Amino acid sequence: MALLEVKNLNVRFSTPDGEVAAVNDMSFSMEAGETLGIVGESGSGKSQTVLAMLQLLADNGTASGEVNFRGTELLGLSRNEINQVRGNQIAMIFQDPMTCLNPYLTVERQMREVLELHKDMKRDEARATAIAMLNSVKIPDAERRIDMYPHEFSGGMRQRVMIAMALLCNPQLLIADEPTTALDVTVQAQIIRLMNELREQIDTSIILITHDLGVVAGLCDRVAVMYAGRIVEFGTLDEIFYDPHHPYTRGLLRSIPRLDQAGATELETIPGDPPNLQHLPPGCAFQDRCTQAFDRCLTERPQLRDFAEGRRSACHLEIVA
Ligand SMILES: Nc1ncnc2c1ncn2[C@@H]1O[C@H](COP(=O)(O)OP(=O)(O)O)[C@@H](O)[C@H]1O
Ligand SMILES: [Mg+2]
Repeated sequence: MALLEVKNLNVRFSTPDGEVAAVNDMSFSMEAGETLGIVGESGSGKSQTVLAMLQLLADNGTASGEVNFRGTELLGLSRNEINQVRGNQIAMIFQDPMTCLNPYLTVERQMREVLELHKDMKRDEARATAIAMLNSVKIPDAERRIDMYPHEFSGGMRQRVMIAMALLCNPQLLIADEPTTALDVTVQAQIIRLMNELREQIDTSIILITHDLGVVAGLCDRVAVMYAGRIVEFGTLDEIFYDPHHPYTRGLLRSIPRLDQAGATELETIPGDPPNLQHLPPGCAFQDRCTQAFDRCLTERPQLRDFAEGRRSACHLEIVA
């Protein structure tokens, strides 16, 4: 059985200007131990996809579809039941650790509370477990630093604390939403290296969300590329990098900053902006940024189709080629 199976997930927001279709017909599955990347520009629906899975949408949002996690349908769970899943079986980390860390409590207190609450540990055992976890995310001098407040840590160290907190309860799934976006390039690389090491050591599956295809390179087994609320391409990491099919994926690949060529080459960004989700054109959502668009792209939305084993793309060029 798959660890996670998402089928036809839709997210809608009602706003004074009408309905926003933030996520449309999202389907994917993950096996245990796998790391899945979800990549796309800002606003493409990455965060709302995972927030919907955990019933964390804003009040004006609704989700429909199926989210099957180890045999349990998450969208139908009560508040209490989904609270049990969150934090215990599925943990989430965000771009800004301060959204999850309480600035007024020491790291020790926050980690201890998680263990006392979810794992029924006594104070000493919880503290020792928390220190061990800080060691495993390579926070130097963890025994002393555990008694510090979040603001006393640097951005990179704070993100390590966040990862340690998320892993405390041995979740089966860790969702990392832009975990390195707020960090400078060097620290980013350190956190990616850390996540990669953890991936080998623990058997937690990971969903890694990022706008930067470069970040998934070192980490993911398979990648879903999203555009305007839909998956436009799906494949293994190698397939996405070495045999991209969708023009949007190709555009993203050309815009990856190369550490080894800093300043040497001009990065190609994809000209134009993603469309307004409330005024999507008929046809393909990528049409006005695509150099290969032809008449059919303006009138008919390309369906996400399997074109090879495990490979999916939503582009009319596939059919013509
Ligand atoms: N509460 C909300 N009300 C209306 N629209 C929203 C709300 N939250 C998110 N959206 C819209 O949903 C779309 C997808 O957002 P999101 O999943 O956060 O994008 P990203 O890929 O950057 O994570 C965006 O266009 C965003 O404006
Ligand atoms: Mg986001």
